[in-house]
Amino acid sequence: MTTTARTNPPPTIRREDYRPPAFLVDEVDLHLALHPAATRVKARLDLRRNPAAEPATALELDGEALKLVSLRLDGAALPPERVRPRADGGLSIDGVPDRFVLESEVEISPEANSELSGLYLSGGNYFTQCEAEGFRRITFFPDRPDVMARYTTTIEADRAACPVLLSNGNPDGAGDLPDGRHWARWVDPHPKPSYLFAVVAGDLVAVRDSFTTRSGREVALAIWVRQGDEDACGHAMDSLKRSMAWDEETYGLEYDLDVFNIAAVSDFNMGAMENKGLNVFNTKYILARPETATDADYEGIETVVSHEYFHNWTGNRVTCRDWFQLSLKEGLTVFRDQHFTADQGSAAVKRLADVRRLRAAQFPEDAGPMAHPVRPDSYVEINNFYTATVYQKGAEVVRMMRALVGEAGFRKGMDLYIARHDNQAVTIEDFAQAMQDASGVDLTRFRRWYAQAGTPELRVRDSFDAATGRYTLTLSQSTPPTPGQPEKLPVPIPVRMGLIGADGAERPGAGVLLLEEAEQDFTFEGLEAKPVPSLLRGFSAPVKLSGLSLEQLGFLARHDTDPFVRWDSGQQYAVAEMLRLVEDFRAQRPLDLPEGLAASIAALLDRAMDDPAFTAEALTLPSEDFVSDQMPVADPEAVHAVRQFLRAAIGTRFAGRFAVLHAELADHGPYRIDGAAMGRRALRNACLSYLGQAEGGEGLRRAEAQFNTGGNMTDVLAALRVLADSDSPAREAALAGFHGRWKQHDLVLDKWFAIQAMSARADTLQQVKALVGHLDFDLRNPNRVRALIGAFAAGNPSQFHHASGEGYRFLADSVIALDAVNTQVAARMVGPLGQWKRQDARRGALMRAELARILERPGLSKGTFEKVSKSLAA
Ligand code: TRP
Ligand code: ZN
Repeated sequence: MTTTARTNPPPTIRREDYRPPAFLVDEVDLHLALHPAATRVKARLDLRRNPAAEPATALELDGEALKLVSLRLDGAALPPERVRPRADGGLSIDGVPDRFVLESEVEISPEANSELSGLYLSGGNYFTQCEAEGFRRITFFPDRPDVMARYTTTIEADRAACPVLLSNGNPDGAGDLPDGRHWARWVDPHPKPSYLFAVVAGDLVAVRDSFTTRSGREVALAIWVRQGDEDACGHAMDSLKRSMAWDEETYGLEYDLDVFNIAAVSDFNMGAMENKGLNVFNTKYILARPETATDADYEGIETVVSHEYFHNWTGNRVTCRDWFQLSLKEGLTVFRDQHFTADQGSAAVKRLADVRRLRAAQFPEDAGPMAHPVRPDSYVEINNFYTATVYQKGAEVVRMMRALVGEAGFRKGMDLYIARHDNQAVTIEDFAQAMQDASGVDLTRFRRWYAQAGTPELRVRDSFDAATGRYTLTLSQSTPPTPGQPEKLPVPIPVRMGLIGADGAERPGAGVLLLEEAEQDFTFEGLEAKPVPSLLRGFSAPVKLSGLSLEQLGFLARHDTDPFVRWDSGQQYAVAEMLRLVEDFRAQRPLDLPEGLAASIAALLDRAMDDPAFTAEALTLPSEDFVSDQMPVADPEAVHAVRQFLRAAIGTRFAGRFAVLHAELADHGPYRIDGAAMGRRALRNACLSYLGQAEGGEGLRRAEAQFNTGGNMTDVLAALRVLADSDSPAREAALAGFHGRWKQHDLVLDKWFAIQAMSARADTLQQVKALVGHLDFDLRNPNRVRALIGAFAAGNPSQFHHASGEGYRFLADSVIALDAVNTQVAARMVGPLGQWKRQDARRGALMRAELARILERPGLSKGTFEKVSKSLAA
């Protein structure tokens, strides 16, 4: 670390500079002697010159925070003049033969590792995290994904402190050692990149099950957790077994080891990690009981467990050549986990939720200073590119590809991709080529989706010629400029559509239009009257659609057969009305509940029970951020005031019907987590949320009762949310009671922090600052940081953007403090400050000043530096 502000920027890594590795590693034999302050790691590497690379004179090894103890080449100590330490912590070794054995020994300190990358301690147990570049914090190694090796790992530790010793692959022996220590060996027969290496050691207990693959392989499944959490693993285990069966049925892909282990840890930088045969999970995505976890938590578990399992083929058996190809595994695997969950039941509601997430996280990213293509061209810190664009937009691109090549073509393409590239490290090009070769569909132009950043804007115009019965749809597209990409080309946009007659019935002509040019006409013959076009059914492309009238949107919200278009048209309709109210608010005109909006709520309530989950989604007003994103300049105060006004007005107008539904939908009988039960709870709590805003205080009394008697966390938390937004005297008692009951339970306490951080009350920033000083707050625990600081900055726009600028100052102070503890988490917190261009000039200047203040900090990490400097430059 330097002690002054960065004078020379950290290097930029470019995709075009890719060169194959000069040396390959065939075998890795690792020996870890675990000790909290001084772990010894011995590595024996079988290396050989890569015939496909340009000749190199030196062997390059990455390393970071390693203390070198010894280094031997083919059994002989290396003379110091042949070993050059690199500035980044790595080593260059001169004069190496074509084939040789390198043995190193290093010392590392897990207890000093607050980065949670490499080998670290959590609650006295050892865990590793190696993606993307953490393996170099364990041993010297060519730490890049195109170096694939077979690993044997021997772990040695104190038997009392660490009865459980786990690594990748299959178990291969264990035994006792002197001084109360013991060892275990693991052999992973599959070649893998270093980022998939893992070790877990400590005092954990297993919840066990088994799975028999289609070809009859018996797989021992285990989820490793702390004692006391055994009864909270059922949903994770069930999700795992369903995922294993689904991948066999859908893609013919079977699991390929004798054991599949999952270990849960409460200090974790992200959701989970797909290490071969030993997935490591944030406890948030494993542990669930009805009284501690919400329905959203249960859904998160199914998503993440399946995602990591699916990586076994898309990511592990076929991996990435370099980190620019990250979406090769992430976009494809998100697509697979979305498809899996859709197949489990409520496909339509799952699609709405995924689109809502894409619009909330990816669209702003694509319009902001960090905008990058699904396959980026450059990065400073790769950890900054585990983004909504690489994951979510990457999944949308795979989904469109499937629309173009067809379901059968897609399956053939997947088969070919895996057959061709098993045990290889490949590129996004290789994936697209396999899809093209297997399906016969030319995807040349389609590849622009991987190369071009920014969200395409799709506009529609239509006309009808009554004399000929011809209806013409004119679709046009353009993509706004993004940093480094001023000019954009048209991309192929699959537009799934239908035509609806005035009677609300579908007319002939439904299908998929492919818009390939900047503008194209599509004509339909034989219509007796002008239809209403239903476009982007199922959200067939990740674009912004405009050009439909308020009248058409209202019509589609009532009549379309496609649930996505029905929901989305309702949302767009509400946005239009909210923008009108924002104008009224600014002009200090009185606000009225628009009658069109009231009518569509009434229509929804008439059919509320047809599909409660859908009704809940459709009843929920567009978020403040989503509304602000449709304005030339955001106005967080006005948007907040309008949305709160509407919630209160709708709550008051329909209080009777909300109250009836809320009572009728109460859970009787045993708690269930199937789609139907979850849909009922979602609708019930949407009603409560409106009632909480209604005049008269009846909703608050209901919330208090539900908080006190609710039998599951979904209902309790929904009630607490209503109280936390209020000035009710019940608020303090509820928050204190909740804390008292759950203070020993990390994951529930996170909810307590988040609910206060997202409160609509005007004193929220003061509360958040006070909570940073709370005994239960811990800057070293990423879940806690996300629950308080992340929820405030990214989940409470009106308070974060408080006109005083104090929200910005608080976030900048937090980033600075975090950067000294965990640089990955710190960099990820910068995001909201980067959106300064969306705000008015005053707020924008305040935000830039805070970014500039961060940038001046001595010793700033390269990850935070990259986010802050790019945010200022754009
Ligand atoms: N590959 C992981 C996934 O998508 C995510 C991941 C990347 C990660 N880097 C990480 C997880 C660092 C934890 C820490 O599932
Ligand atoms: Zn992933």
